[in-house]
Amino acid sequence: MQRSTARVLRGARIPRVATPPGRTLRVLTSLVRTPPVRARSARAGTPPLGLLYERHGEAAAVVQLKDLEVPKLGDCDVHVKMLAAPINPADINMIQGTYPLLSPLPAVGGNEGVGEVLEVGRRVKALKPGDWVIPADAGLGTWRTWGVFPEEMLLKVPSDIPVLCAATLSVNPCTAFRLLADFESLAPGDSVIQNAANSGVGQAVIQIARASGIKTINVVRDRHDLSKLVERLMALGADHVVTEEMLRKPEMKDIFKSIPRPRLALNCVGGKSTTEMLRHLQPKGTMVTYGGMAKQPVMVPVSAFIFRDMRLRGFWMTQWRKDHAQDQESVAAMMDALCQLIRRGQLTAPACTEVPLQDYRAALDASMKPFVSSKQILLL
Ligand SMILES: NC(=O)c1ccc[n+]([C@@H]2O[C@H](COP(=O)([O-])OP(=O)(O)OC[C@H]3O[C@@H](n4cnc5c(N)ncnc54)[C@H](OP(=O)(O)O)[C@@H]3O)[C@@H](O)[C@H]2O)c1
Repeated sequence: MQRSTARVLRGARIPRVATPPGRTLRVLTSLVRTPPVRARSARAGTPPLGLLYERHGEAAAVVQLKDLEVPKLGDCDVHVKMLAAPINPADINMIQGTYPLLSPLPAVGGNEGVGEVLEVGRRVKALKPGDWVIPADAGLGTWRTWGVFPEEMLLKVPSDIPVLCAATLSVNPCTAFRLLADFESLAPGDSVIQNAANSGVGQAVIQIARASGIKTINVVRDRHDLSKLVERLMALGADHVVTEEMLRKPEMKDIFKSIPRPRLALNCVGGKSTTEMLRHLQPKGTMVTYGGMAKQPVMVPVSAFIFRDMRLRGFWMTQWRKDHAQDQESVAAMMDALCQLIRRGQLTAPACTEVPLQDYRAALDASMKPFVSSKQILLL
C-alpha cells in the first residue's frame, strides 16, 4: 500500500463528510430495509433452494431455481442462512463459462453476499451463531437460501452495518479501495479519472475518494436521463461527471483549471473510452484496467508511452486475495476501513433493486441490460 493514500484509506485521516443531500429515495430505502421473511426455512433437514446451473451458457437459459442437496455440518463447517446476494458481471461471465475462474458443475451461482451463522461445527473457532459472514473468496455460490461452508471460506463482518452494504462489500468496495491505494501515492487534493463511473466499483471509488479528499472525474455513457445520473453521482461525492463524448472536447481543459490532472485512471471499459480517458492523465501517470465491459482491447497511442511515459497496469481482486492469503492483517485493515466508512454514512450500498429469489429471471435479465444503473440484489 502506498504512502499517504494508505494512511487516509486505513481510516486514520478520513474526514467527516456529511452524507450528501439529494441521494435517491431508492438508495435510502435500500439501506434501511431488511429482507422480507424468508419463505423457506433454513433449518438443517429442509433442502435449501438455490440458483443452479448444470452447464455453461446464457444465464437465462441455464440457471434454474432448484432444491439443493441437504448438506451435513462437519466439525470445521458453518451453517449459514443467506440474507442477500447481488448479481455482478463476473457471476454472469462464470455462468457463461468465459471467466478465468469457473466452479465445477453443477454449480450454484453468485460470488458475493451476506449470511447469518445459524450453527457451527465443534472445531469452529472464530464464528458463532448470530454472526454475519461474507465469502472470503470467489466461488462460494451465494445464490441460495442456506448452505454449509468450511469456516475458512467465510469472513466475519460486523452486523451493525446495513444488510445491503454487507451483501455488496466483498467485491466492489474492496476493489475500489485497492485501486485507490495500491498504484499511485495519492494525497488529498489529487485527482483520479474513471470510466463506467456509475458501476458498483465506480460508485465505491467516488465515495472512498471523497472521504479521502481525492477529487474524481467520472466518465459515463450518454443516455436519455443523463441529468438524473449526473445528479446521483454528484450526490455521492463526484467532483465532475462527463460523458465519453465529452472526453474529446476542448471544454475538458476547464476542469483542470480547478483540479490537477489525474495521476491515476481506472479503466472498467476498454476500447475507445480508454484511449480517450488516457489523454487526460498526467505524464508518468498510471492507468489500471480492472474491467472490460465494452469487450474491446485497450488501445494506447505510441506517443503516450514515448512522450508521456504512461504506466499501464491491471488488477484482479481474486489475485490480490490469493497473494494476501497469509497476510490477514492487510485484509482486516481494509475491511475495518470500509466498515468505518459505512458506519459514518460515507460509503453506501450501490443504487440497487431488491428482488425476491423467485423473481431471479427478471433480475438476471436486468443485470445484463445497458443503462439500468441499478445493481440487482437477490433477497434470500
Ligand atoms: N478486476 C477486479 O477485481 C474486479 C472487481 C470487481 C468488478 N470488476 C469488473 O468491473 C466491471 C464492473 O463491475 P460492477 O459490478 O461494478 O458492474 P455494474 O455495477 O453491473 O456496472 C456495469 C457498468 O458497466 C457499464 N457498461 C456496460 N457495458 C458497457 C459498454 N459497452 N461500454 C461502457 N460501459 C459499459 C455500465 O454502464 P451503463 O449504465 O452505461 O450501462 C455500468 O457502469 C465488470 O467488468 C466487473 O467484472 C472487476
